[in-house]
Amino acid sequence: MLELKDVSKAYGDGDQKQLVLSQMNWSFEVGKFTALMGKSGSGKSTVLNLLSGLDQPDQGQVIFFGQNLYARSDASLSDMRLTNFGYIFQSFNLISNLTTYENIEYPLYLMNIKSAERKEKTLKMAEELGLMSFRDKLPSQLSGGQRQRVAIGRALVKKPKYIFADEPTANLDEQTGAEIISLIQKMQKQHGTTVVYVTHDLDIVNIADTCLYLTNRKIENYDRTRHSY
Ligand SMILES: Nc1ncnc2c1ncn2[C@@H]1O[C@H](COP(=O)(O)OP(=O)(O)O)[C@@H](O)[C@H]1O
Ligand SMILES: [Mg+2]
Repeated sequence: MLELKDVSKAYGDGDQKQLVLSQMNWSFEVGKFTALMGKSGSGKSTVLNLLSGLDQPDQGQVIFFGQNLYARSDASLSDMRLTNFGYIFQSFNLISNLTTYENIEYPLYLMNIKSAERKEKTLKMAEELGLMSFRDKLPSQLSGGQRQRVAIGRALVKKPKYIFADEPTANLDEQTGAEIISLIQKMQKQHGTTVVYVTHDLDIVNIADTCLYLTNRKIENYDRTRHSY
């Protein structure tokens, strides 16, 4: 179970202080694809960063495996992130001087996995994502959709229990975007991965197990019969 408990978060100080999340409470279902929607600036990325160990709340707790994520030591939190969490961002965030193969392999390397096992896992992932013919190419030699596939490979190669995606299709054309979403969904179904997927695209309503809506600094269930917001 992944849970937000009385979480508040503000940015800035004094007159400039802006409260983004206020005493937010929510439990995220394990093994499900949860979409978190909301207008631009509503705090979606902020929620994802708090949930995924990237940023601390000002108040409240993020409960993970029954324990406050941010009560862990830095080393324990990094280890948790490396082993259990996969991240997919809008801007791909690939390492520019590593090839497709090396970018996918990288987290396994950080996890001290032995070279033969790294190779097997990396090749399997590249194959599943249709990236074998691009394995020696650098990110600059790939299209946007191919780069996002590499980023997905890097997030999934370690078979994380959780995937956190922040508008991963925002920079892609519609068809490529749909392919990327179905890849993430396939992984979720195959491996029972928990996905928290941030988007402002309503198309996700047809795919996600659970749809949430962020408004007025709180999360609520999204009414799927709505067609706009
Ligand atoms: N690091 C930051 N410093 C100051 N303000 C921020 C920062 N990150 C986000 N904000 C502000 O917090 C609000 C929510 O941002 P964000 O979580 O990125 O929203 P969303 O992802 O829904 O577009 C916005 O008004 C944004 O300008
Ligand atoms: Mg955002």
